[in-house]
Amino acid sequence: MLAIKNKTAKDRASQGKQKEFFISEIYRLKKELNAVLLAHFYQEPDIQDIADHIGDSLQLAQAAEKTNADVIVFAGVHFMAETAKILNPDKLVLLPDINAGCSLAEGCPADLLLKFKEKYPGHILISYINCSAEVKAISDIICTSSNAEKIIRQIPESQKIIFAPDKNLGRYISKTTGREMVLWQGACIVHETFSERKILELKLRHPGAKLIAHPECEQNILDNADFVGSTSALLNFVGSNPSKEFIVATEPGILHQMEKQTPGKLYIQAPPEANCSCNECPYMKLNTLEKLYLCMKDKKPEIILDKSVQEKALVPIKRMLEMSKK
Ligand code: 13P
Ligand code: SF4
Repeated sequence: MLAIKNKTAKDRASQGKQKEFFISEIYRLKKELNAVLLAHFYQEPDIQDIADHIGDSLQLAQAAEKTNADVIVFAGVHFMAETAKILNPDKLVLLPDINAGCSLAEGCPADLLLKFKEKYPGHILISYINCSAEVKAISDIICTSSNAEKIIRQIPESQKIIFAPDKNLGRYISKTTGREMVLWQGACIVHETFSERKILELKLRHPGAKLIAHPECEQNILDNADFVGSTSALLNFVGSNPSKEFIVATEPGILHQMEKQTPGKLYIQAPPEANCSCNECPYMKLNTLEKLYLCMKDKKPEIILDKSVQEKALVPIKRMLEMSKK
């Protein structure tokens, strides 16, 4: 028994040493490569803590647009790193794990979306940033969860809209803006797992807790929510709202930032229906400190895009960035 305990303590010490090594190497390589490290709120806490910029999809796209670093290391998922590459075609953009995809992007292939679009002549295509570069290339405007409403409100009333790929965000924005939109029927595997029944039970046990939810959640969850917003909006909400307890219906990586930026409050993960960890994004969690270090050391995996796709995809992304300023 003692031997097992000792071994565990030894293992922990060596894991701690490894972590220190990765972190110091990442800092060293950042200088050597003149690299900027961008991280999404769903990344593991150790990665969040060493990033130069941490944010939601829009904030990270804006940081990528502004950077004068030579190398962008993207601790996030593929579509986010692709967006950074589209904005910076001449820079090296690295993603620690090239398989860090997104269920929304994977559920909306560009060829099928194009066929879908042909069924609705006279419609413009507004695509959520959680989509491939090929989908962006056939879109008129890109949006994120933090600017979707603002962007839709700038489209003339007479203009018909197709919204892809997230039906939950599309339905939510339709409701807040009163705009009818044709919706591609995609969804996020993480945000579809939350259990209304279990959340209501939690609310009974924590009567003062506010339910806050990402708009990728299903309608029954959003209907119960006290506040709906992007990851950065959720983070701001817990900082400014006087409540001391929050049930958080989004990927639990954000809890680290909530605890860091607004300590002393209770943040409860919204539970999935099954007894599983399916509220964790399996793609985001593919990135690790070790892979981050290795990608900087080896300068790969690198995001490489077809030039014509890249040029076409830049147009709706630039439109989004301009419309976000209005
Ligand atoms: P945010 O832009 O709100 O950070 O959302 C990104 C995402 O992938 C949510 O699942
Ligand atoms: Fe995609 Fe969902 Fe993961 Fe966000 S949480 S990256 S939408 S799979």
